[in-house]
Amino acid sequence: MSNEKRVTSNESMVQAKFFEVLQSAEERGKLSFDDLLLLLSTTRKDELEALFASADRVRQRFVGDEIHLRGIVEFSNICIQNCFYCGLRRDNRQLFRYRMIPGEIVEAAKIVKSRGLKTLVLQSGEDPWFTRERIAGLIREIKDSTGLTITLSIGERPDEDYEDWKKAGADRYLLKQETASSTLFQRLRPGRKLEDRLNSLRALKKLGYEVGSGNMVGLPGQKAKDLAKDIQLFLEYDFDMIGIGPFIPHPRTPLAGSSPGDLPRTLKVLAVTRIVTRNTNLPATTAAGVLELNGRQRALQAGANVIMPDITPWAYRQHYQIYPGKIHEQLEEGKMDELISSLGRRISSGTGYRSPLKNS
Ligand code: 5AD
Ligand code: SF4
Repeated sequence: MSNEKRVTSNESMVQAKFFEVLQSAEERGKLSFDDLLLLLSTTRKDELEALFASADRVRQRFVGDEIHLRGIVEFSNICIQNCFYCGLRRDNRQLFRYRMIPGEIVEAAKIVKSRGLKTLVLQSGEDPWFTRERIAGLIREIKDSTGLTITLSIGERPDEDYEDWKKAGADRYLLKQETASSTLFQRLRPGRKLEDRLNSLRALKKLGYEVGSGNMVGLPGQKAKDLAKDIQLFLEYDFDMIGIGPFIPHPRTPLAGSSPGDLPRTLKVLAVTRIVTRNTNLPATTAAGVLELNGRQRALQAGANVIMPDITPWAYRQHYQIYPGKIHEQLEEGKMDELISSLGRRISSGTGYRSPLKNS
């Protein structure tokens, strides 16, 4: 056999293996670490298309065609943490800082309700002005006046805070693992440990929250095996929601000169996550839309089933600059409906809790 022929036949064997692993993952929802890596490592167009199509079928089979909308209100951009990747980090002195007062937050919640959305996400930096009592009061007031499902996304707090907020009426909590590599985590989040974050995630689950987590794809120094570990962690913790977005360098951070994560790699992580986690809620992240005009649409066709429209008042929204480009990526109401129906999908009329796992 000539050398050329031998190379071709090796290549086709590797390809046959890819399709075999993909088919078995779609059928059984299980993958070994090596097979996770195999799926994540492809760069071939035909394999990528097959991977996204498979994730789309799994999405259809386990969570259907409905898209859940979560209205997000970014109520404070003040943060005591100093994450290397984030524009809200405390050392970024060039950012105009704001804090909405509770009355304004309740008004924003009412707008979420009036838009017909069923879930409110209250998000902020780690802002100590919002004490346990203040957040609990806010939750009670919003529940009483709107009845919305409330998701908190306000960082790491003592377990007692989570407990009081649950009693006050909070339903869900988002806390991203960011990366399952403890080395990378510690390097990029000075003074913080992955282990503590995971302890918080366990506590939240135990308290009965629906728990969301997630990661960033393309962090400097992140390897394919770190992404496979991220997916294994999603499975181990059985998260209800998982936000997967590309890393986008912010000019006022120590990572200003790093390369951004790329969309195909982000979509690969999303698609494999859908295939193995089956019925989780996976948002088409705003960050995916920053990388490419139709990034969010592509995410919805590669496993995603959630969109989080930004309902933060305009005066503040421009200052919630986690990464550049975010402000331009907001889907207006009309455009979002158009996008959803153009994909043959529909907006869910329910509260969007994770659907029970079907045995099919
Ligand atoms: N690029 C993309 N996502 C980012 N986040 C923070 N900084 C960046 C960035 N530069 C994400 C993190 C965090 C959430 C608030 O935003 O995942 O949890
Ligand atoms: Fe603060 Fe979160 Fe940004 Fe870190 S990622 S600096 S904790 S807002």
